[in-house]
Amino acid sequence: MKKQIITSNLILKTPRIEDLSSLKVFENRNKNHLAKWETINDFSSEEEDHKRLMNWLKECEEEKSARFFIFTKENPDQIIGIGNLTQIVRGVFQACYLGYKIAHRYEGKGFMFEALQETICYAFEELQLHRIMANYMPINIRNAKLLNRLGFVIEGFARNYLFINNRWEDHVLTALSKEEWIGHQSQF
Ligand SMILES: CC(C)(COP(=O)(O)OP(=O)(O)OC[C@H]1O[C@@H](n2cnc3c(N)ncnc32)[C@H](O)[C@@H]1OP(=O)(O)O)[C@@H](O)C(=O)NCCC(=O)NCCS
Repeated sequence: MKKQIITSNLILKTPRIEDLSSLKVFENRNKNHLAKWETINDFSSEEEDHKRLMNWLKECEEEKSARFFIFTKENPDQIIGIGNLTQIVRGVFQACYLGYKIAHRYEGKGFMFEALQETICYAFEELQLHRIMANYMPINIRNAKLLNRLGFVIEGFARNYLFINNRWEDHVLTALSKEEWIGHQSQF
């Protein structure tokens, strides 16, 4: 698995155990910002956090997922976002899920778009995947705009799809196949 991707403004790095404190700073600072879209565990112990990161490293080594911590070039020690390609399935499917988040203070600058463009390129060209799936809550308009700009196509609507903050949330289902990605790129 690739260790680092450099874009115009950013450095995307695969997680290392040394990133744990930076990860905690990112999560603590962005609790309110992220609480609407994911279940936040406010009371995780140091040991649980360590275990979670170790699991991510293991999954990446086993090529079950590819995860990137996102840093700006100006501050390559503080995580400002995360992009994940998870649940990689091979065989006749060659697919994965895309997940991501960016710190509140870095929203609206085009950084997530920049990071995901390269993450998607990595998924199709280096991991040789064929399909990336990404789903969002209908009220997450920023997310809808971002996926649309990246070329993702709406494929369906799933009722009661994910259990977030103690309730089952409906989701819009989108995907990007390699063919669509190539077509989308040629528009620029
Ligand atoms: C969803 C999320 C990642 C979108 O982040 P974002 O910063 O809006 O996304 P982008 O990087 O595409 O930035 C786009 C914005 O930057 C602006 N921008 C500025 N310079 C830009 C540039 N050079 N290129 C592109 N956009 C640029 C755009 O105008 C746009 O702003 P607008 O939406 O107000 O019009 C972010 O809102 C987030 O982390 N939300 C919480 C977690 C979440 O929902 N995760 C997804 C769960 S599945």
